Amino acid sequence: MTRVLVAGGTGLVGSAVVAECLARTADVRVVSRHSLPPDSPRRHLAAQYLQADVTGGEGLNTALADVDVVIDVLDGKLGSARRTLTTGAQNLAAGAAAAGVRRLVLLSIVNVDEVEFSYYQAKTAQETIYRESRVPAATVRSTQFHEFVTAFFDAGRKLRVTPRIRGAKFQTIAVADVARVLVDTALSEAEPPGIRNIGGPEVLGMDAMARIYRQFTGVRGPVVPVPLPGPLGKFFRSGGNLTRKNAVGKITYAQWLEAREAESLPAVDLR
Ligand SMILES: NC(=O)c1ccc[n+]([C@@H]2O[C@H](COP(=O)([O-])OP(=O)(O)OC[C@H]3O[C@@H](n4cnc5c(N)ncnc54)[C@H](OP(=O)(O)O)[C@@H]3O)[C@@H](O)[C@H]2O)c1
Repeated sequence: MTRVLVAGGTGLVGSAVVAECLARTADVRVVSRHSLPPDSPRRHLAAQYLQADVTGGEGLNTALADVDVVIDVLDGKLGSARRTLTTGAQNLAAGAAAAGVRRLVLLSIVNVDEVEFSYYQAKTAQETIYRESRVPAATVRSTQFHEFVTAFFDAGRKLRVTPRIRGAKFQTIAVADVARVLVDTALSEAEPPGIRNIGGPEVLGMDAMARIYRQFTGVRGPVVPVPLPGPLGKFFRSGGNLTRKNAVGKITYAQWLEAREAESLPAVDLR
């Protein structure tokens, strides 16, 4: 049985990757700094959870022992946490080579190397580390997750407004769809594909997404267009974040949001 190490397997996409691996009867180990509470919906009973900080390297060798494939879905957005993407990738790639790992699979972002935005520059550096590693590596570049755009809308909820980035278009994808492709890539016997782009099933303006959000959440109040200056705003307005030919995601934004809202409904007391 293939043993997969999911680095960052307690995170948003990581827990979906663990679920997908288990559905394919792969043997799954997870590494992250913190343990999940026993009742966390992100915890999967059949997976093995280990704690290590990839930037320090401590505990990493134990996590990598007897592993066939590493899927890296780590994240570190701000300040020193960003070292997770660079130093962490260096430690993981070197440790994987020493441990005899056969394949590395990294999750990245569509056209990440075209944007002069510091987080994207760190992701580009992370891609380079994997590309140059001694272990054959594949990079799956995804479009933004459904959660990414929804976080903007949710942020306005208390203020009874729905903020939307002026002129932005997205091809958002469900993390379950991303997880499926990552695990396909991890378990494939074929040569790693280098870079593969994947996107959600439809391209929508953020104004159309705001309408869907309001329909399923019942949020009222004005929709407020906000400017997003700088390279990231330009990227989202120009369509650089899209990959129309690679719309492999199946779950639409409306389907995902409907399921999210149904799950968060308060339990009905039938007594
Ligand atoms: N959001 C999007 O729309 C989007 C689109 C395309 C690609 N991506 C990529 O998807 C990846 C995963 O994102 P996500 O939202 O799933 O991240 P997330 O929920 O924040 O999960 C990050 C994971 O990394 C672990 N981690 C962080 N620092 C660590 C360290 N130093 N050592 C060991 N584990 C560490 C975290 O656990 P601990 O904190 O317990 O260590 C957690 O398990 C990112 O690389 C991102 O660039 C995101």
